[in-house]
Order: sequence, then structure tokens, then C-alpha cells
Amino acid sequence: MARKPIIAGNWKMHNNVSESIELTKGIIKGVKDLDKNTLPEIVIAPVFTSLYPVSKELEGCDKVSLSSQNCYFEPKGAFTGEISIDMLKDLNVSYIIIGHSERRQYFKEDDELINKKAIAILEAGLTPIICCGETLEQREMGVTDSHISSQIVKALEGISPENVEKTVIAYEPIWAIGTGKTCDSKEANRVIQQIRKTVAQVAGSAIAEKVRILYGGSVKPATIVEQMAQSDIDGALVGGASLQAESFIEIIKGAIK
Ligand code: 13P
Repeated sequence: MARKPIIAGNWKMHNNVSESIELTKGIIKGVKDLDKNTLPEIVIAPVFTSLYPVSKELEGCDKVSLSSQNCYFEPKGAFTGEISIDMLKDLNVSYIIIGHSERRQYFKEDDELINKKAIAILEAGLTPIICCGETLEQREMGVTDSHISSQIVKALEGISPENVEKTVIAYEPIWAIGTGKTCDSKEANRVIQQIRKTVAQVAGSAIAEKVRILYGGSVKPATIVEQMAQSDIDGALVGGASLQAESFIEIIKGAIK
């Protein structure tokens, strides 16, 4: 069975409550007349403080799902500044982005923490979007594939094949994030095929064929059609171009099958 594409907008640290509501309204309006059967799954990931108002705005809209940009793996307790998965579930959040390179780089998140989050998210019945990607230095040193394979193996450690099947992976080369330098589509597809091989080693090839693997890094309306035409790219994790309803809608339209 064909993998259903996903177009996810990672708003990063942008948009206060009123800006988030305005953007959500624009997205809802933009997808209103599009046929749900041919649409990709659409996901938006606002900042924590906008999740509740955005979830209210999405009531009655069955075309857009809500994601958070992070979570903590413990269910509750003395973890100042953190948010549990149940708290997110309470707000109709169904996806959680984990292991984004910005969290790895600026907040020192490591593979072990990302694995704990992935396990807890799946146990709670939500979907992790597990990010991986290499730096420019790693690419130039020729260690892209081994680095990414290691990130994926560690993120999926101890997760049953049935749960691996439910995960979404996002390949985001760090040098392509926010730089305007999109990774060549064929190269992105090649790396994603390597990721699928790694998933097959962890959970078997039947499961690997079902896992959705997205590309992220300077995705724009002008790049999405070629990206979606690749055999193994199942959608996009979009940063900058998801902050305007018009460009996000154009990307969604480019992913219609
Ligand atoms: P840009 O689309 O702004 O390059 O960001 C990509 C990204 O990091 C999405 O998570």
C-alpha cells in the first residue's frame, strides 16, 4: 500500500497567540475546498503557548493535525520548564517532533534522550517525528550515511516493529536548514533510501516499506514537486515556508497525489 504523504510545518520559535490563530485560519481557509482523499496529511507545529488556541481553531477541521515541537518523556514531577506527553495529548496534539538538529545543537539533546522520548510518545499512542541529519563537515568528511544510520538505530532502540511502523522520520541535512540551499532531490532520496535500509535492519523490510520518511531543509513551493516525485520521499518538514499560509498551501498542493 502506498505511503500517505505528510506535509508538516514546524513554526519553530515564531508566532504569538494571535499570529498563530491568524496563520491557522489562513491554512484552514486554504485547504477548505481541497479534496481530503488526495491531500497529504497536514500537520502544524506551533510553539507550546499557541497549542491550546490553535487546537480550538482546528475544531471541526479534519484536514489539519496538531504537533508539538518537543516534549519530556517523564509523565509528571519535578522537571521545571518541561511538558509531558499527556499534557500535549490533552490539547489534541497527535504528533511530536523530537531530535530536531536545533534541539541537539542548542539544548544538547542526545540520542539516548531522543530514544526515551520516542518510546514514551509511542506508549502514549502519539506519533513521534524523529529528526536526523548531518552537518556540512560530516558530509564533506563522507560520513553522512554512517552518522544518520547511527542516529536512527539509537532513536529506535528497544521499540517494537509494530511501533516502528507508526513512527515518522525526517531527514534534515543541517546545512540545508534555513539556508535556502535545498539538498538535491536525488541525493535526499538516496539518503532516505539508506534510512529505510536502516529501519529494515531494525524492524524488518515489510515495516521499513511502510514508514514515512520526510525531507526537510529549505523546502519551498518551487522545490516540492520534484521532491515528491522521488521514490522514497514521503513528504516534507517545512520551516520558513510554513510561516505564511500562501506558501504552505502551495507546498501542500505540490504534494497532492
Ligand atoms: P527551513 O524550511 O526553514 O529550512 O527549516 C527546516 C526545518 O528545520 C524544519 O524542521
